[in-house]
Amino acid sequence: MHRTPDHPIEAIFLDRWSPRAMSGEPLDERELSRLFEAARWAPSTYNEQEWLFLYARRDSPHWPAFFGLLMEANQAWCDHAAVLIVVLSRKVFALNGRPNPVHTFDAGAAFENMALQGAAMGLVVHGMAGFDRDRARTALHVPDDHDVEAMVAVGHPGDPADLPEQLRQREAPSGRKPIAEIAREGGF
Ligand SMILES: Cc1cc2nc3c(=O)[nH]c(=O)nc-3n(C[C@H](O)[C@H](O)[C@H](O)COP(=O)(O)O)c2cc1C
Repeated sequence: MHRTPDHPIEAIFLDRWSPRAMSGEPLDERELSRLFEAARWAPSTYNEQEWLFLYARRDSPHWPAFFGLLMEANQAWCDHAAVLIVVLSRKVFALNGRPNPVHTFDAGAAFENMALQGAAMGLVVHGMAGFDRDRARTALHVPDDHDVEAMVAVGHPGDPADLPEQLRQREAPSGRKPIAEIAREGGF
């Protein structure tokens, strides 16, 4: 369960990972607000803040619509999440309606802020691409000038023993490529 960086970095980067085991315990309003607060402070082009988080708590009437968007492989562990989030981003600038080429990049930064805050609070914040985007758009009435980016499962950590066998084996923090593979001086 230990990650070792090749160079010294803040512990929070290593402490954040994407567990699947969650307890099913609800998240209180203040905990959820702290996650959105962290996302709020992400950098964005022209301070556009073009992210929008639609969410459903497990005990709310919104839950079935959100849960139903997930692929089966994600439903298998998300049934113990406290909150499911659909991350949207506005594709055009609010000021002039021109295309914003970095709306997805900015939404990703906001997600990572949320994930790091969640890790600091001892919560699970797990990003997901495995869901039906088209259905998310129609079910949640997402307008054409917004993209559906990703979903996020949030919850309190649970017991990995409660996961289906296949997922239990994968329930550990992963490693990373070396810097030499992800950064180059000069051109491609
Ligand atoms: C945008 C995004 C989409 C992802 N989609 C899924 C998914 O559909 N299902 C899943 O179990 N994990 C998903 N993950 C989790 C990744 O597999 C995980 O972040 C990656 O393996 C690195 O591991 P770590 O987050 O534990 O460091 C996703 C993560 C991100 C950021």
